Amino acid sequence: MNRRQFLFAAACSAAGLAVWASRPASRGEGGHPSYFAQLERSLREHGLARPTMLVDLDRFDRNVDTVLAEIGARRIRWVTKSLPSPRLLEHAMKRAGTSRLMPFHQPFLNQIARELPASDVLLGKPMPVVAADRFHRTHAPGPFDPARQLQWLIDTPERLRQYRELAAGQDLHLRINVEIDVGLHRGGLADPAELARLLAVVDSDPRIEFAGLMGYDAHVAKLAAMPGEQARAFERVRRRYEAFLDVLRTHPARAGAAGSGAAGGNEAPTLNAAGSPTYRLWSDVAGIASELSVGSGLVKPLDFDLPILEPHVPAVYIAAPVLKSADGLSLPALGPLNDLWSLWDPNRARTFFVYGGNWLARPVSPPGLSENPVFGRSSNQEMLNGARSVELDVDGFVFYRPTQSESVMLQFGDLAVVRGGRIVDFWPVLDERG
Ligand SMILES: Cc1ncc(COP(=O)(O)O)c(C=O)c1O
Repeated sequence: MNRRQFLFAAACSAAGLAVWASRPASRGEGGHPSYFAQLERSLREHGLARPTMLVDLDRFDRNVDTVLAEIGARRIRWVTKSLPSPRLLEHAMKRAGTSRLMPFHQPFLNQIARELPASDVLLGKPMPVVAADRFHRTHAPGPFDPARQLQWLIDTPERLRQYRELAAGQDLHLRINVEIDVGLHRGGLADPAELARLLAVVDSDPRIEFAGLMGYDAHVAKLAAMPGEQARAFERVRRRYEAFLDVLRTHPARAGAAGSGAAGGNEAPTLNAAGSPTYRLWSDVAGIASELSVGSGLVKPLDFDLPILEPHVPAVYIAAPVLKSADGLSLPALGPLNDLWSLWDPNRARTFFVYGGNWLARPVSPPGLSENPVFGRSSNQEMLNGARSVELDVDGFVFYRPTQSESVMLQFGDLAVVRGGRIVDFWPVLDERG
């Protein structure tokens, strides 16, 4: 070997060593922590070997209590799309002493009216008038009285016009809540002057009753990493809400109503604000929102791992049985690269296929599992990889944390309700039919 060859070989070895030294560290930490090991035992006791959505009611209750302690004198409204089970909602309502719900879907609204007839309902989005019509046509008369207990959300003068037509056509008394844009720019009235004009139309129609305002501030949550920016954005929300309230306070038919007295009649208006990632910001604000909305915070999916929700604890998990397990990787397209990849990355030393997959969720137990980006996602049998130290085998369970509860909680049939680490009941989810 001459000097040049020697230098070349030395450079290659150094580069090889550098690549080897930059290998990912193993993330495997053995089997399930005791919390998940106990849940796994309970799944087995119940003879469950299919993807199952678990709701830990002890943790859920802790989250309810956290919310109540935070909101002080304000009222709480539970966001139905994030807690989509009538019994779960009923449980949260009882624990919090509230009847207020915010649904976002016409069939769910019909079901709430049937199964939770004492609810006070504010729609979370403006429903197409055809959906409102369908609700009224399919709602059987009973203890839930839409004319007293339901507020439709109105975002434009045109939608108000459509709802007035509906009220006239079906001889209905409709209560409306007005969506105001406090900075999210997802629609709603953008200018307080529009509210004055809209209220004048409402005043002219005896079938339509003004019930309140709703201003959602989700954009403020996106600024969590920049506390100064977040504080400024929230201050703008507060000022915009206040500007709309000023219109209410000075509107002839409602002078003095907002914040104290009547919403046209004798009832205080429903002044709704916030969602899980912003509700705690409102504790320092007096005199604007009379109630706050929270849903996801009661189950804390992964997307809600935010500093502001630090006092909340995760309360929903997906359990999925393992169908297959093998050493290494054997991706059809990779040939010999399979071995190189699993040699280089210790977290690709084992392959598992689970029952189901492709959920909006991430595997969390046993620790160190990840999807395979080359194999891709599968709703049928999803591939997960892990380190040799991951203790998992066929017929064991992988636990996932959903990234959101909305829609994901509807994908598994009845919720498996957990108390003291054991499944104690099964609660149906809301029904899409209707
Ligand atoms: C109008 C409105 N209020 C509140 C929320 C908050 O829901 P969550 O607490 O589940 O984030 C949402 C979520 O989309 C919403 O659209």
